[in-house]
Amino acid sequence: MDNNTLLKKLDSLSIEEKIGQLIQLTGDFFEGDIDTVVTGPLKKLGLNVGYNIYNTGSILNITNPEKIIQLQTDYLEKSIHKIPLLFMADIIYGYRTIFPIPIAQACSWNYEGIEHAGSIAAQECYDEGVHVTFSPMVDIVRDPRWGRVMESPGEDTLLAKKYAESMVQGIQGRNLEGIIPANKIAACVKHFAAYGAPVAGREYNAVDMSEHTLREYYLPGYQAAIEAGAKLVMTAFNTLNGVPATGNEWLNRDVLRREMNFNGVLISDYAAIEELIMHGYAEDEASAARISLLAGVDVDMKTAIYANQLEKVVSDNEHMLELLNEAVYRVLKLKNDLGLFEDPFRGLQETVQRSRNSILSDEHKKAALSLAEESVVLLKNENQLLPLSKHTKVALIGPYADENSTLGMWAIKGDEADTVNLKMGLLKHVDPDNLSVCKGAHMLPANAREALGKYADKLAAETVDEEALLHEAIRNANEADVIVLALGESIYQSGEGGSRTNPTLPKPQMKLLHELSLLGKKMVLIVYSGRPLILTEVAGKVDAIVQAWYPGTMGGEALANILYGEINPSGKLAMTFPRSVGQIPISYNELNTGRPNLKENGSYRFASRYIDEVNEPLYPFGYGKSYTSFEYSLLTISQKEMKKNESVDICISVTNTGIYDGKETIQLYIRDKFASVARPVKELKDFKKVFLQSGETQNVEFSIHEEMLKFYDREMQYKSEPGEFDIYIGSSSQEILLSFSFVFLPEDEHE
Ligand code: IFM
Repeated sequence: MDNNTLLKKLDSLSIEEKIGQLIQLTGDFFEGDIDTVVTGPLKKLGLNVGYNIYNTGSILNITNPEKIIQLQTDYLEKSIHKIPLLFMADIIYGYRTIFPIPIAQACSWNYEGIEHAGSIAAQECYDEGVHVTFSPMVDIVRDPRWGRVMESPGEDTLLAKKYAESMVQGIQGRNLEGIIPANKIAACVKHFAAYGAPVAGREYNAVDMSEHTLREYYLPGYQAAIEAGAKLVMTAFNTLNGVPATGNEWLNRDVLRREMNFNGVLISDYAAIEELIMHGYAEDEASAARISLLAGVDVDMKTAIYANQLEKVVSDNEHMLELLNEAVYRVLKLKNDLGLFEDPFRGLQETVQRSRNSILSDEHKKAALSLAEESVVLLKNENQLLPLSKHTKVALIGPYADENSTLGMWAIKGDEADTVNLKMGLLKHVDPDNLSVCKGAHMLPANAREALGKYADKLAAETVDEEALLHEAIRNANEADVIVLALGESIYQSGEGGSRTNPTLPKPQMKLLHELSLLGKKMVLIVYSGRPLILTEVAGKVDAIVQAWYPGTMGGEALANILYGEINPSGKLAMTFPRSVGQIPISYNELNTGRPNLKENGSYRFASRYIDEVNEPLYPFGYGKSYTSFEYSLLTISQKEMKKNESVDICISVTNTGIYDGKETIQLYIRDKFASVARPVKELKDFKKVFLQSGETQNVEFSIHEEMLKFYDREMQYKSEPGEFDIYIGSSSQEILLSFSFVFLPEDEHE
């Protein structure tokens, strides 16, 4: 449909029909006949009894294709305007083929692989009739206490930008013209803005952040998604410096729409418009509706506020009416970009008949396996315990030894029955005679199960006595050469609403680990978690640690391939692992302070330090071990003085000096030594991931240009300043192998 026809369509709508386009409900509202609907769920939400359900613009989290066909058909028959419904859903890291959780994906530093994962999720959604996914989430996070770490690309701005861009391109395609082609769906970047920085890591808590920090670190991820063409943005639940993000006109109109040039659909998070009242920011429902429309929020997710209040808000008010028309236009445009006016089912009827070939296809599983292999991070490997030999007798012990519930909280279409778990993975490599398997401990202590409420019901019942589990574990361990301990958080301990004050391994599992450590056997710890756990105590008791995250459908196979050396681990942390909770929030790109804690000063008191803990984390950002070793050497630097529009070109050589082939991620950090605002001790500006056979050397090139030197100054101008810069090249943010300085002189002194 061309734009003029679209505008005519908009003009032809009554006010009620226009408002309906801005309402998002769940599918249950359409069940049964209209009377049942009015007296049932409609009432629960508080929708006015007169509300015509067949004006509603979009549906949340209905993913069943038959249901989608039925709802769309019924809707088009009964609605007067015949504007197709939009179906939106949380397909965050895979539809039925589940990929590793996003924080894990970010540890792969493989953005082609991430784009491919996004495109597979989109393909499966397309095949099943979903039009929009609420992904990517690009909220930066420096606090592992927050539960949604699992959905985040981690602590770094460059990685968040890359993740945002790759996911949007994977989901929507690289077509910036506007039309979303077949096999692709629309992406919604979230949560605007800074949702990942709640005070004390507590879910939905206030965010208090300088405008400088917001612009410098938090906004670029969302910006990258918008530049890649993301069709939607979702607001955040939190307040930002006192103003709820959902009702924040400055944030959503001035920054998002004007500065960041976003002209797609802005959707509230679930009930966030109504929550403006709870925040104490809107007096009543009418004011929540007015504030949100003024703030540029187009779609009201799952409340009755727009439905019940907008008509009053816009009546006799030309300006508000104009805002309403703009919002409705954006929703219609999205429907048009998806081709819904031409085919409201986007080919769904045919794909259902074709029996949905792509769902969980071998090709999709292969991609999930390969991303899982690259997402796993080897944190410790004393005396090269790993990889294991196939002839080693292994005791696989722990609640995750034979557990399929490893998909993470947001795999709404993921089926645990599809999971290749760790035991299944190991059995692809070893003879069953060389493998014993037992649980060893309960997943959670009783009080943690209580705290999880109804989610605890989803966990397997803990029927066996703890002592009996421990005895079996000790017996198996004694008969084995190596213990592989599969421990971790329950998937319900992370994700939305999963904040923890003390993110460690659950108590029964700590006890198991301690008891087994007394046997003097070699021990490999595999950690399943949705966040960096505090592993300081356990790291001292085991020989090797493999960070598995929640590795998705193919996770067990990926881990087994790593344990037996078929794959050499190459993941690098996208988020710092603190030593203790007291170090949180923590990130590698901190400021120097006026009194940095210098090694040569020993335990000098008046430095920026703790008296009961070192400043350094347990495992830093960018860190991850390999079975092989790499050596870097500097070959050439094009110049040590750079002018505007010039670049400093660096060539280094990297050699695989070990006996295994493997991948290395070479990281380039920059430090601005002196500027009009204090700059971080280092910032990741580029990286290259290369594959090297044992003994092979490859040249790797980097180019430094002005854009990489820019930052926000005190007037919030994004600019570079002349001066000296340090370059650090290394295999993590702490393991710097090459360094040098150069001077940026934008103006030629002689001109
Ligand atoms: O997309 C999610 C969001 O991330 C959290 N609140 C609910 C939304 C829709 O399910």
